[in-house]
Amino acid sequence: MTVHGFETRAIHAGQEPDPRTGAVIPPIYATSTFAQDGVGGLRDGYEYSRSANPTRTALEECLAALEVGVRGLAFASGMAAEDTLLRTVLSPGDHVIIPNDAYGGTFRLISRVVERWGVSWTAAPVSDIEAVRGAIRPETKVVWLETPTNPLLNIADIPALAEVAHDAGALLVVDNTFATPYLQQPLTLGADVVVHSTTKYCGGHSDVVGGALITGDAALGDELAYHQNALGGVAGPFDAWLVLRGLKTLAVRMDRHCDNAERVVEALAGHPNVAEVLYPGLPSHPGHEVARRQMRRFGGMVSFRVAGGEEAAVELCNRAQVFTLGESLGGVESLIEHPGRMTHASAAGSPLEVAADLVRLSVGIETVDDLLADLDNALK
Ligand SMILES: Cc1ncc(COP(=O)(O)O)c(C=O)c1O
Repeated sequence: MTVHGFETRAIHAGQEPDPRTGAVIPPIYATSTFAQDGVGGLRDGYEYSRSANPTRTALEECLAALEVGVRGLAFASGMAAEDTLLRTVLSPGDHVIIPNDAYGGTFRLISRVVERWGVSWTAAPVSDIEAVRGAIRPETKVVWLETPTNPLLNIADIPALAEVAHDAGALLVVDNTFATPYLQQPLTLGADVVVHSTTKYCGGHSDVVGGALITGDAALGDELAYHQNALGGVAGPFDAWLVLRGLKTLAVRMDRHCDNAERVVEALAGHPNVAEVLYPGLPSHPGHEVARRQMRRFGGMVSFRVAGGEEAAVELCNRAQVFTLGESLGGVESLIEHPGRMTHASAAGSPLEVAADLVRLSVGIETVDDLLADLDNALK
């Protein structure tokens, strides 16, 4: 069997022309149920759209092909995917290790919801392999990584941490939302499950909320699919179709996101009102060498600390114009936000609290000179 290149898989995997009409694009199967040819006579296995829907199947097959896994599952949001994963693999008494700068919603799910069901957790710096090893307990079942992390853009060494997790009999989960499968394929580096908020780069146009799980283990894939149906947080057919359309252009979008981010980093790094730039593509970034080994390029997310402190950071966010002030990331348009007061406000007072002078950019694919001029003006 020929294994096609990334862009070919993005455009064709799971997306054979419709057998009845030849439609090149998978139709949106806006149906809750499917007629049966006699009791139990399912056509192509379709019965009820919570269990499976052909538009969602197309997306799930494409996601599995892009992440080099054997099973992909599409959810109504990244959080629905995370919840389904945690309830599939954890039981009361188990322990989870999470990044000490995880996405705030992941931290909230684990610390405020999952903990109430008897699961304990430890926040560890995932860029420090020995710190993660030291946080392992006999009851650790999951080591959860983001790499790059949100919003500090720290880098975790996936192969090294896969070894740490597997030595302890735990699963390695990687939230690959920031890197996307174009820049990094965690299953090929030893991870057991990949998580996505497809709301971000996979969808790519800020017009849909979605999530995904992908695994290279068929038995675990069956378990996850069982829980996806049992819990019901599935992607609807319209949303699945939008994410699938987004995936087709993921590679070209990511290359432009990276080009523009590199130019933005260069401008910020030399600016007197910027105290520090956090970007794994900078040779001075502590995770640069690991990122070079496991990523194709360094992504479109850039964080930086403003020299004037919290108020200066907030004012800068308010002054930007081409960069839209807003949460989320990964769309074609550039976004700016203040994590301490916005995306990461729920982590205040916790081990995951972020610095008050931090600003996060999702660098879009607009004309780069317009982005540079906008930041220069906002930084004055
Ligand atoms: C890294 C990361 N993981 C997961 C999520 C949650 O995804 P969603 O908002 O689609 O539920 C987000 C959302 O911002 C995120 O940034």
